Amino acid sequence: MCGIVGYIGKRNSLNILIDGLKRLEYRGYDSVGIAVINDENNTNFFKKAGKVKDVEEEFDREILQGSIGIGHTRWATHGEPNDNNAHPHSDDNRNIYLVHNGIIENYTTIKKKLIIEGFTFSTDTDTEVLANLIEYYFRIKNSIEIAVRLALNEVEGTYGLACICNKEPDKIIIARLGSPLMFGLGKDEIIVSSDAAAIINHTKNVIYLEDGEMAILRRDGFQIKTIQDEDIFREAQKIEFNLEEIEKGGFEHFMLKEICEQPDTVQNTYRGRINFETGLVKLGGLDSVAEKLINAKRIIITGCGTAWHAGLVGEYMLEQYCRIPTEVEYASEFRYRNPIINQEDIVILISQSGETADTRAAMKEAQKLGATTIGIVNVVGSTIAREVDAGTYIHAGPEIGVASTKAFTCQLMSLALITLMIGKNKNTIPDSELMKIASELKNLPEKIQSIIEKRNDYKFIADEFKDSRNFLYLGRGFNFPVALEGALKLKEISYIHAEGYPAAEMKHGPIALIDENMPVVFIAPKDSTYDKIISNIEEIKARRGKIITIANEDDDEIKNYSDYVLRVPKTVPIFAPILNSIPLQFLSYYIATARNCNVDQPRNLAKSVTVE
Ligand code: M6R
Repeated sequence: MCGIVGYIGKRNSLNILIDGLKRLEYRGYDSVGIAVINDENNTNFFKKAGKVKDVEEEFDREILQGSIGIGHTRWATHGEPNDNNAHPHSDDNRNIYLVHNGIIENYTTIKKKLIIEGFTFSTDTDTEVLANLIEYYFRIKNSIEIAVRLALNEVEGTYGLACICNKEPDKIIIARLGSPLMFGLGKDEIIVSSDAAAIINHTKNVIYLEDGEMAILRRDGFQIKTIQDEDIFREAQKIEFNLEEIEKGGFEHFMLKEICEQPDTVQNTYRGRINFETGLVKLGGLDSVAEKLINAKRIIITGCGTAWHAGLVGEYMLEQYCRIPTEVEYASEFRYRNPIINQEDIVILISQSGETADTRAAMKEAQKLGATTIGIVNVVGSTIAREVDAGTYIHAGPEIGVASTKAFTCQLMSLALITLMIGKNKNTIPDSELMKIASELKNLPEKIQSIIEKRNDYKFIADEFKDSRNFLYLGRGFNFPVALEGALKLKEISYIHAEGYPAAEMKHGPIALIDENMPVVFIAPKDSTYDKIISNIEEIKARRGKIITIANEDDDEIKNYSDYVLRVPKTVPIFAPILNSIPLQFLSYYIATARNCNVDQPRNLAKSVTVE
């Protein structure tokens, strides 16, 4: 949610900041802004509503000269996305310039106090209030470091922030509470960012700030402190991924690239973690909790959006193969409904980014109640990854497209591995079945690739349905959550209303929606639910709905019931959701592009939702 960049060094900062903002734009893209301190120690700034590429030409390169600067790309929370509300924000005296991610919850109280002190405000944002609060303390203490510290001790809410000060033009102050922030150490320079993507082409040595910490960055070094003024010593960590991984590599969109990466990414999730002969799974990050997992009486899975859908598939897996009662909760609801959690419970947090505010809050709640927390996370070093009791990385690589694709299938693979690990140890999966599953794993990348190779077939169907106003997605068992995920993908990138349902639920209400204008996508692999699904298809067909089926390659019969058939190879049930979700990703992608939608940056959305 929102992106922050900062630079302090010997080079001109503007291009570095603009380049960083472009890399962060997938996090928020309502507006963009930059503030730079020039050689005469004056701060110049420019900010505007719009995307970086649209606004870039308007940056005045002569004026925005200087080797210290901060930048921001915004996803609006307080105040509509217009030029005025764009960051950076300054105090009314233009001494402090601030970029901020997160929400200052008590900003109205602070604003009233500052108005009494004579401060004036020109935007609708909580960030401007914080800039003025810092200035308020600066006037008393004459130190930007102390002013930021005192201000942060007064605010409630969340922040990742970077701040520069005209009267102390040789430093950037950054701080974090609930919103990721890090800085990369280059030669005689430091690059600040809310995401490693903006740092990676300058340096791989990165220091992550923890919640409640701030850092004072100078050209020749840095100091980390808590906001209670205690010194912190921390070594830099190496970022593992490289620049190519976060670039489009010839694909038109990140989303398409990420869908097509899945033969590799799914393999990366299981690589080195399973013995194909015995089916024995070893997840190093879960060693410390393996015993607890195997003996668990109850597992609760939580996450948001796509991660929540992955959790629902996990519920089917853990109950069917491990016989462990499993519940799935929306992370956004978890802590508000006084959940019944005890010390024997295991709470699994699923999050691509590892930074989603609701999922983090659920983690904290579970920890407070004494449960063992396990993370299934993509972004290495992210908050959830660091703060859970144990965890497993999905190794999907950077996911830039706002619509989650490869992270979903890797989350499913992680859940399958955990299921196999527990099932083998508990003897709830017969050895013969385990070996069949393990050996099928080796075929999976090739099977995914075979779906990807047929992707052009989807364009025709996309053209046919691009003007539909509604879509239904139906599946049973393991494939019901896949239907939910298919509907979410279509909604978020094409703005077509779509719903997912268990296929048999149709007759309890939604079937009233069916007429000749309603496309219905059935996930209909040849599994134990096949005959039932065929009956459900008949019900829709009888009401003249348009039928698109996801069916196995060897299923000839399905043609008799479908207007369009999208083929997937047959696999064992535990991996079927992985294969079945890929056609749905393509379908939504091609419908969205046929409608000229911005698939990588859909309206109103941000890649990682770091506010509650
Ligand atoms: O980073 P997370 O996995 O925690 O994100 C959770 C959701 O915000 C995310 O899955 C969202 O629903 C995606 N846009 C779905 O494509």
